[in-house]
Amino acid sequence: MSADSQYLSTAEELDRQDPLASYRDQFTKSDPCIYLDGNSLGRLPIQTRDWLDEVIDRQWGKSLIHGWNEGWMELSARLGDKIARLVGARPGEILVCDATSVNLYKLVMAALSYQTGRQRIISDELNFPSDLYVLQGIIDQLGSGYKLDLIKSRDGIRIDPDSVKSAIDEETALLTFTHTYFKSSYVQDMAGITSLAHEYGAMILWDLSHSVGSVPVDLHACNADLAIGCTYKYLNGGPGSTAFLYVRKDLQEKLQQPIWGWLGSKDPFQFGTAYEPAGDISRFLVGTPPVLSMSAIEPALDLHLEAGITALREKSIRQSGFLLELYDDWLAPLGFTLGSPREPASRGSHIALRHPEASGITRAMINPPEGKDRVIPDFRTPDNIRLGIAPVYNSYRDIFTGMKRIREIAESEEYLKNPGFIMNSRE
Ligand SMILES: Cc1ncc(COP(=O)(O)O)c(C=O)c1O
Repeated sequence: MSADSQYLSTAEELDRQDPLASYRDQFTKSDPCIYLDGNSLGRLPIQTRDWLDEVIDRQWGKSLIHGWNEGWMELSARLGDKIARLVGARPGEILVCDATSVNLYKLVMAALSYQTGRQRIISDELNFPSDLYVLQGIIDQLGSGYKLDLIKSRDGIRIDPDSVKSAIDEETALLTFTHTYFKSSYVQDMAGITSLAHEYGAMILWDLSHSVGSVPVDLHACNADLAIGCTYKYLNGGPGSTAFLYVRKDLQEKLQQPIWGWLGSKDPFQFGTAYEPAGDISRFLVGTPPVLSMSAIEPALDLHLEAGITALREKSIRQSGFLLELYDDWLAPLGFTLGSPREPASRGSHIALRHPEASGITRAMINPPEGKDRVIPDFRTPDNIRLGIAPVYNSYRDIFTGMKRIREIAESEEYLKNPGFIMNSRE
């Protein structure tokens, strides 16, 4: 048996033994490509289409305005309680609302006004750009004395925990990091950094966008203060689906968010003229919730809860182990290097492979010649091909086929026919 056939039969055997294999059929395959981009936009669950039909026809179509009294008003909290079960939060600590960047703004402003006398924010240069922009905007808005310090990375892959220790001091109001990094997939030590922040009297805010639904998180066990995240990646909530925010129970009444909308007020339907914030997590709401967008999140969320985050993580680790075996054997000799940590505990569910011709290779993967498999990864400047493993629907065979196609493109230099950056690839 050739080495390739051996890898193929290993993939087929692992698929046969996969306890989560049946979930694969619960996603639409209108495009039969090998989809390795679920870390950016998850596939569409079949159930979501049916559920949205129901929400549109029965809830909106028939219930009309009464829909608000028949579940829409509670939707943010109800979905939040389901997300809470994936990230170790308690009921009443998570709300689904707004965009991730907007939630970051609300929570950072709330933390800064609570931390009187402290004006320093610490983040790092590998954080997602939108997070850094929001922080820069806040510093600009608040003006004199406020300061953002970004920890540097030595290798572009990870942030050394010791560098967080050296950066923090008694003036620090807030630390904010992404839990799983968008480019390298590096996973931060949430428990260690959270307790370090608290030792210095600082608050901590975690961005869970690349963790929720793929990497187990225990906000409660870590005693994390604040968190945000999106729902369109591993949670398969659909393009631009509503994000979430977490505020630990004991902080909810102490923190004041900066956008005083009516739905965050104590009694929106009194239509009073003076704002008084709600006494619980709902004070972090702003305006009318986007019911259709939020409804799309629920079927996929239920699938993840049913599959179980532990089983999903186990499969993701086995799958990325298989991918790395193929990388070592096939791609490292062709000039690829690893842009992610090798040890599974320090890595989320995507793997970045670096190559000087990464953009051309990505283009060739997406636009294959007749008869070749179409494989969808994404490209991150300057030289990263990100391969996202969504354990809920990716098979081991997807990984075999995707990696084989990358090898073929690199060996044949097919990328020379596909020059140029991919301009519209979203995070
Ligand atoms: C880690 C991370 N944080 C924040 C964002 C921004 O999210 P949004 O567009 O919902 O504001 C993204 C977007 O993909 C992200 O990956």
